[in-house]
Amino acid sequence: MVRRDLPQVAALELACFGREAWPLQAFKDLLAAFAGSRPARGAFWVAEDQATGGVVGYAGVEVSALWGEMDIINIAVASSHRRRGVGCLLIERIVRLCRQRGVSLLWLRVRASNRGARRFYRRMGFQERGRFAGYYLEPDESAVIMAMEPEER
Ligand SMILES: CC(C)(COP(=O)(O)OP(=O)(O)OC[C@H]1O[C@@H](n2cnc3c(N)ncnc32)[C@H](O)[C@@H]1OP(=O)(O)O)[C@@H](O)C(=O)NCCC(=O)NCCS
Repeated sequence: MVRRDLPQVAALELACFGREAWPLQAFKDLLAAFAGSRPARGAFWVAEDQATGGVVGYAGVEVSALWGEMDIINIAVASSHRRRGVGCLLIERIVRLCRQRGVSLLWLRVRASNRGARRFYRRMGFQERGRFAGYYLEPDESAVIMAMEPEER
C-alpha cells in the first residue's frame, strides 16, 4: 500500500465497515509510522485487479504490545471479488512477513457475529483463543480473539 492507494482503500473500508470504518487519515498516519520505524513496526498491502489495476482488497499487520508477536489490524476484500482467494493471498503475505521476522504468534480480533470472517480465519489456520467482552460498540459486542503460529502453518 502506498499513499496514492489511500482514496480507494478508504472507500473500500467504508463499504465494508460503515460507521466503524477508519478514515483515510488513519491509514496515512500508520503508513508514515511504519515507514519511519526500523525494524518496521507494521506493514500494509493492497490486492489489485490485474485487468484494471483497481484496489480490490487490503490488509495490515502491526507488531503487538508483546514484542515478537503481531496483530492483524485490518483485512477486507471488495464484495465483488470475494470467494476468489484474494483474502487467502493477503493472509499468506502476512504469514510470510511473520516467518521472515520469526514471529511466534499472529493474533486478530473479529466481531462474534461475523461468522463468515470467523470461518475464513479458521480456514486460514487460526484457532479461537478467547473472547474480549464489550470490545466493539454500536452494536455492543464481544470480540473473538484468534491466533495462529506462523511457523507451524
Ligand atoms: C473475510 C474476507 C476478508 C474474506 O476474503 P475472501 O477474499 O472472500 O476470502 P477467500 O476467497 O480467500 O476465502 C478462502 C476460504 O475462506 C472461507 N471463507 C471465506 N469467506 C467466507 C464466508 N463468508 N463464509 C464462509 N467461509 C468463508 C472459504 O472456505 C473460502 O474458500 P472457498 O471460497 O473455496 O470455499 C471478506 O469476506 C471480507 O472482506 N469481509 C468483509 C470485511 C471483514 O469482515 N473483514 C474481517 C474483519 S475482522
